[in-house]
Amino acid sequence: MTDVVIRATGLFTPSQTISNEELVAAFNTYVARYNAEHAARIAAGEIAALVESSAEFIEKASGIKQRYVLDKAGVLDPARMYPRFAPRPDDALSLEAEIGVAAAREALARAGRDVADVDAVICAASNMQRPYPAMAVEIQHALGIKGFAFDMNVACSSATFGIEQAANAVRSGSARSVLVVNPEICSAHLEWRDRDCHFIFGDVATAILVERADMGDGGWAILGTKLATSFSNNIRNNAGFLNRCEDTPADARDKLFRQEGRKVFKEVCPMAAEHIGTHLAALGRTPAGVRRFWLHQANLSMNQLIARRLLERDATFDEAPVILDQYANTASAGSIIAFHLNHEDLTEGDLGVICSFGAGYSIGSVVIQRR
Ligand code: COA
Repeated sequence: MTDVVIRATGLFTPSQTISNEELVAAFNTYVARYNAEHAARIAAGEIAALVESSAEFIEKASGIKQRYVLDKAGVLDPARMYPRFAPRPDDALSLEAEIGVAAAREALARAGRDVADVDAVICAASNMQRPYPAMAVEIQHALGIKGFAFDMNVACSSATFGIEQAANAVRSGSARSVLVVNPEICSAHLEWRDRDCHFIFGDVATAILVERADMGDGGWAILGTKLATSFSNNIRNNAGFLNRCEDTPADARDKLFRQEGRKVFKEVCPMAAEHIGTHLAALGRTPAGVRRFWLHQANLSMNQLIARRLLERDATFDEAPVILDQYANTASAGSIIAFHLNHEDLTEGDLGVICSFGAGYSIGSVVIQRR
């Protein structure tokens, strides 16, 4: 069978950041204004007063210190609390494609690849800017890649699921080299006015070049991929094209990200640890033999718990790097950012696991070895 590698990765990071303190200041201004505006109804017991957020809680509960965003001004405007993206004409590159292209270019440059060597593009992300034409086809066109392209969405596991589809395409011979692109504009699916989750997400794009091992030296051999899904409503977003058909006005809150964070934490940690352990065992490996785990980046305690279950001791940041303190949760891109920023010190033969988990539920693991 054809050996497949991750040859290189790319990362696009927006130039703007929002610290927890800036976020909470804007949120609390919004809360004060809302409560003042609705004072009479709140006093009459008709509606509940909103409660302030706290930067201390956010860091303690999640490990997040800041997030990168594409539009800081719109998010921090207490009268808006949502990014503002200027509409673009159809003949301009769309925003999601633009950040995907930026990440893809870096992956290609790092691999020393020409676009003529790439046969396919998969845009694997939690949200697509539009239903069609596929974002992947637009990215393919912008890069000048021949062959085929398609979109796929498995929420936070989109990137690892995308890696498996790319690896299968290479193994089957339908492509020599596949770009998996993960543009995650999470700021647009987040309800920034919801105290329970307003701190969770950030924007970013990653790209992964998956190809035949014999196309060059270096990279990471894909020893195996393992995907699993199990239906849950604990992370849900009802935005979709059928919303336009509703008789009643759409409930906007229902059309953005919402979750039962506690339940997700409790249910997904054991699933992810079990998934990784089983995958490694099937490959004749053990967690102790893994040099580094690049885990999905949603919550620091979650990652620590998963690593502890696997290693039966606490993992160091060197063994399970953390990037969510700077990037927050970036959906499918999180484990790829962790890999992108923390792999160059590993040496030939070192074993690593990329693992994502999230809505669906979905879990994807990729066991790789430095060549
Ligand atoms: N500021 C201050 N206090 C807050 C707050 C905020 N922004 N948000 C919630 N709180 C309070 C709650 O009111 C609650 O107070 P109470 O104990 O008096 O009732 C307390 O903090 C705990 O709230 P809870 O929602 O249970 O927090 P948590 O410890 O579960 O942390 C998450 C919340 C979201 C950080 C955490 O559940 C998580 O990360 N879960 C996993 C999420 C995940 O992986 N999702 C996948 C997304 S793709």
